[in-house]
Parts: sequence; C-alpha cells; structure tokens
Amino acid sequence: MKNYKELLNENKDWVEEVFKKIDKKMQSVTLRSRDKIADGVDEKGFHKEVSPNCWTSGFWPGLNYMLYAYTKNDEYLKTAQTVEKKLDEGLKNYDELHHDVGFMWHISSGANYQITKDADSRRRNLFAASTLFSRFVLDGGYIRAWNAKNAENWTIIDCLMNLPILYFASKELGDDRFKRVAMAHADMAIMDHLREDGSIVHIAEHDRETGEVVKTYGGQGIKEGSSWSRGQAWGLYGFVISYIHTGEERYLNAAKQVANYFIANCCDDWLPRVDFRAPSTPVYYDSTAGACAACGLIELGKRLPEDEGGMYVNAALKILHAMEEKFVDYSPESDCLLGYGTVRYPANGMTPEKAGVHISIIYGDYFYTEAILKLLGAEFFPW
Ligand code: GLY
Repeated sequence: MKNYKELLNENKDWVEEVFKKIDKKMQSVTLRSRDKIADGVDEKGFHKEVSPNCWTSGFWPGLNYMLYAYTKNDEYLKTAQTVEKKLDEGLKNYDELHHDVGFMWHISSGANYQITKDADSRRRNLFAASTLFSRFVLDGGYIRAWNAKNAENWTIIDCLMNLPILYFASKELGDDRFKRVAMAHADMAIMDHLREDGSIVHIAEHDRETGEVVKTYGGQGIKEGSSWSRGQAWGLYGFVISYIHTGEERYLNAAKQVANYFIANCCDDWLPRVDFRAPSTPVYYDSTAGACAACGLIELGKRLPEDEGGMYVNAALKILHAMEEKFVDYSPESDCLLGYGTVRYPANGMTPEKAGVHISIIYGDYFYTEAILKLLGAEFFPW
C-alpha cells in the first residue's frame, strides 16, 4: 500500500484541478447567496434558505470561511460574515437550541474568530458552547441531543461533531470542565453507540439515573439495528477529532474500527449507500456520508504510521474520485455542488421525495470542499 505522501503526489494534479473548479463555481454562488442561510436548491438550482435555528445554518457561512482562509478572496469573507450575523436570531431563541450548536456556531463564529480574532464571534461561540455544556446529564454522563419530552434521555452519534466547540471553550477559557464533558460524552459513544463490528447505533435512549442504554433506534437508517452511513461518517470523523484534541488512543482506535467497517461496506463503486444494512435495491446513495467520511479517513490516515495510514487515505481518494465523476456539478449557473445527498432512508412507507433522497444538501458541499482542501494541504479547518 502506498503511503500518504505517495498518494498525495500521485493525485496532485487531479486535486488541484478539482479545487480550481470548486473555486470558480463558488465565486458565482457566493455572490448569489450572500444574504441567505443557504441549504439545498430549488427547481431552478438556486439556494433555498433555512431558519437560523436549523441545525444546518452554520454550513454555508462555514464553507465561505474555509474558502476564504485558503484563497484570501474577500468575497467569501463578506458572505461568511453577512450570514454569520443572521445566525444571531438563533442565539436569541436560546430556549429552542439543541445539541447541534457546534455545527451551527463553531464552524461559523468559531471559524471567524480563529481566522480574524473577531471579538463578537468569540462571544457567540462561547455562548453557544455554554448551552451545549448545560445539556450534560450528570448522572448518565452524556449530552442530551434534543428537547422533546419523549427524547430527554436520547443521545445521537451526530453529537460527536459538536464536541469541538467544547474543546474550543476549554482552551479559550482555560477551564477543563468543558473538555471533560466532551470526553465523557465521547466515552459514552464508544460504550453505547459503537458496536463490536465497527458499525454505529444512530440513537440510544438511556436510563435517566444510571445512564444505561434501555433502547436503541434506527433513526435516519432503515430500521433499528441498521447502519445509517452518515451516522458511520459522523462517528468516524468525530472520534478522530476527539483524538486530535485529547491525544487519547481510545478515540483513535474507535475511529479505526468505524473506518474499517465503512471501507468494508462501501460497494465496489465506492459510492456510499444511505444504510449499509438496507437491501441492495433500490439503490439510494448518500454523497454527504461519503464526503464526511473522506474527511475523517484523511485525518485518520495522517495520524497513523505511514503504511497503515495509506490505506485510509487511499479509501478517501477512491470515494472522492467516484463521487466527483458521478455526483458533482461544477456549472456556475447552479448553486448545487455535490448532488445525491440523502436526508434519511425512506423507511416505513415514506416516499423517497419526502425522505429527501438524492438532493443537494449544504453539508455535502461543505465536507466535499473540506476533503479536497485537506488533500491540497490547506491549514485552516475549524474543528
Ligand atoms: N444531524 C442530522 C443529520 O445528519 O441528518
């Protein structure tokens, strides 16, 4: 197996070419969607807008911050800062906030602060971090995901991607309680969400007093006991991120387990299906799972001995090449970059349309661009 550096050299021209096309397209999209909290596209191919309280609200400003950090094109910065301010409405409605404040603020305000040292952005991110901190259930040792009465004791694997905002607050304030809460949650995820074969449980319900799992749910996968591919990707990248912030080997090992499972379950065409345990037909892809997993695989590969790491980076490249060929739209006329994202498996009689099958999703664009920037050697990522 080739090592990381050999793989990068081999793919250098392709990666540079791909980034040029992303940048060219995004120079048009960033002007068109300057005032929108963008997610998804309408029938004309223009971005739709979501509310500031939606869990995906941070990805559009976040994508612009990532592009600005690499290109230094002020147009990206203008869009990022304009949209970041629109998210303040979400912070005002703080009793409606949920665990996804990391996705919402850490990659927007957190990114802005890391790049420009803007004091308002720091405040926003620390405020958001403290709301996540306050969701910790002391007896059970986990962060509560949502607010609904019947879901008070639920955890979901996606939350691993929200932990960086706690690692940030811990460092910024010199207060290790934030980091300890993040680690307690990551440890719970190893115990309660990671199965022995490396697959991931999407939702776990806990006993309020002891924290023990009383029930699991299939969530956005096909059914209970299934293996929703974006959940695998959140777990894979999320464990690597906790390893990066803590240096604890158990998170690296957990990430490896999930990565091995993900790779073994990618079909020969390297295009991730929505659920690895769903019937092979009809074929429902989820490009967002592939893009997020590619980011995790690259970061994992970089942190392992050269030959072992090469296997993971090679898998990331296979996924990115396959998706680039089939799912990517570089035309500047459309706001959709990565097509074929899927919100959930269309289970229990739900139509594919209702389930959001094969659509443009903003975090697909975000992680696809992030993966390409990682291969280019970019230095700034908010996580
Ligand atoms: N965090 C929700 C999702 O991945 O769809």
